[in-house]
Amino acid sequence: MSDASSAAGPRTAAVIPAAGRGVRLGPGAPKALRALNGTPMLIHAVRAMAASRAVSLVVVVAPPDGAPEVKTLLADHALPGGTPSGSWGSTDFLVVPGGATRQESVKLGLDALPQGIDIVLVHDAARPLVPVDTVDGVIEAVRDGAPAVVPALPVADTVKEVEPAAPGEPEPVVATPERARLRAVQTPQGFDRATLLRAHEAVVVGEGATDCAGLVERLGEPVVLVPGHEEAFKVTRPLDLVLAEAVLARRRANDGF
Ligand code: CTP
Ligand code: MG
Repeated sequence: MSDASSAAGPRTAAVIPAAGRGVRLGPGAPKALRALNGTPMLIHAVRAMAASRAVSLVVVVAPPDGAPEVKTLLADHALPGGTPSGSWGSTDFLVVPGGATRQESVKLGLDALPQGIDIVLVHDAARPLVPVDTVDGVIEAVRDGAPAVVPALPVADTVKEVEPAAPGEPEPVVATPERARLRAVQTPQGFDRATLLRAHEAVVVGEGATDCAGLVERLGEPVVLVPGHEEAFKVTRPLDLVLAEAVLARRRANDGF
């Protein structure tokens, strides 16, 4: 088995879509720029990717009019040893403006990747606390030959499929999938670069997927799941901010993080 904790091997880049507004989080700055314990969520997410020794480049997809601000933010939080404009330690970064949907934003990030990158991670800025072991586990599975790898956890709630109704109206249940066969998926999702590009190029207008792996599935290529982590949850609603800050407080108490 290849070991993603070493920098040797195929070159890996992480694309971080961070262009969303965060409507469900409520009014304020774009979600990725909101602070967690005083540091923007996006910076936590970039650090989580740069923490993997295998990741040599991070491409941040900024809010459409926010690329200059995000560049400044990254430079301000650069690690000692990095050059002010372009790198954090041994990890380079690029910033590009995003699009109207997550899928468009990811595509804009992929378009910015240089030659020589073989493995691409796509990681939500809204999952700022993913542990490095999860990141390395995804990379290792791609290195071992899987074209698409997704971290996932069993679901806790029973899930119903419904016939959506008007807001406020009761919704008829159509089916109850067997819970033991369901998984909630997280990021970073990892891909063989060529497969991910092909998946994005094959998208039919109006037929997107809510994650990149969904596009690869449409190609008929295999997608595999590896264990996710409860700290890789997505910050979506206000209560998630409370949980994220509690996780950071626990880390600080445990190891002075
Ligand atoms: N995203 C993006 N470009 C968009 C929409 C979303 O890059 N046009 C990114 C978000 O910044 C986030 C990730 O995709 O990191 C997952 O999306 P989500 O959690 O839905 O974030 P938002 O779209 O910002 O939130 P909301 O749906 O509540 O507005
Ligand atoms: Mg969204």
